Amino acid sequence: MAEGGSEKPTKYPAVPQYGPYTIRDLKPGEKKKWCSCGLSKKQPWCDDSHKCTGFTPLLWTVPEKQQKLYQICACKYTRKPPYCDGTHVNLPCDVLERQKGCAQQKEHSNCQKLCTSCGFIPDF
Ligand code: FES
Repeated sequence: MAEGGSEKPTKYPAVPQYGPYTIRDLKPGEKKKWCSCGLSKKQPWCDDSHKCTGFTPLLWTVPEKQQKLYQICACKYTRKPPYCDGTHVNLPCDVLERQKGCAQQKEHSNCQKLCTSCGFIPDF
């Protein structure tokens, strides 16, 4: 989720996928760490790739009321993490525009991990 509250965000995550992951077989009470930076290779869960990005994972406990399926956000812009809230629908154009207009764009060729000013990642 872009950080900075309802005001203009102060940093932006990478977008692994423009739509949710459908997750099955979560156990009520199970503790999960939802990736908020978008860099984890174990989406939608954290693999500690966020180090040095300023993002931290969301600690989430699977609710006691059991569900068969969970729609877990993969775009990282949801306002109800870790659940998908539909924000991903209008997101691709916003992300591309932000990256095209990024003030740090000249530094993108040297970017090792994530430009938090726009969400650019080197292998995007
Ligand atoms: S995948 Fe992020 S809001 Fe739907």
